[in-house]
Amino acid sequence: MIDTHSHILPALDDGAQSIQQSMDFVIQAVDQGVKVIFATPHCCDGVYDCKKTDILAAWQELCHAVDRAGVDIRILPGAEIRVNHDLVARFDAGDLLTLGNTGRYLLLELPPMFIPHAFFKMIHQLKERGIIPIIAHAERNPMIMSQHGLAADLIFQGARVQVTAGSLTGDFGRGPLKMARTLAQNNQIFCLGSDIHPGRKYRMKTAEKKLNKLIDSADTYQILQKNPEQLSEPSPGAGNHSRTGNIRGAINF
Ligand SMILES: [Fe+2]
Repeated sequence: MIDTHSHILPALDDGAQSIQQSMDFVIQAVDQGVKVIFATPHCCDGVYDCKKTDILAAWQELCHAVDRAGVDIRILPGAEIRVNHDLVARFDAGDLLTLGNTGRYLLLELPPMFIPHAFFKMIHQLKERGIIPIIAHAERNPMIMSQHGLAADLIFQGARVQVTAGSLTGDFGRGPLKMARTLAQNNQIFCLGSDIHPGRKYRMKTAEKKLNKLIDSADTYQILQKNPEQLSEPSPGAGNHSRTGNIRGAINF
């Protein structure tokens, strides 16, 4: 199982505040059956703007701690990047860390209450650059919850949808729970993330069980393992959609 969204790096954002707390999260992940975690601290959200170099340094620190403790898990670097007007400019300036630092996928966080009209154009601009945007916790966005077909439109444009594990267990309320179930049943979830922060519960294992009640277990496996495996694959064919054919949460072009 691969956790594609977490705030486990020490003292960078509102996630883990110390290396001990980072390791507590890592141990919880192992207990849930997680084998790979993408560490994705907040960037560009108006409060936290973690720099690439700081993220990579904290990632190395955590990797060393995991090695020293002999814990069987792989930590990969990344970032959760708030969608602002200058998203593409910051990407072009080399400021933004892709998932796994492979230059293929960006984990994007929409503003909490809406989706900027320009976001569709940004998806297109990122695709032109060989980048596939992944929308973090799409099921929690009020516009996606209220506008039937919006998630499908975003996927059709080339984005992928990530759902928070805790949404499938009701941790974020009825709206996100309903939307997460709808996305699962509509074959629109690309991957799952814990979005673990202090004060939240690690829900990957329970979310897997919930998914298995909604969809085929083979499709759950696709969401929890096969699709996220692509996030750590460096490829000269970045953005080549033929690589992602016949997968959940993707449109073939
Ligand atoms: Fe997050």
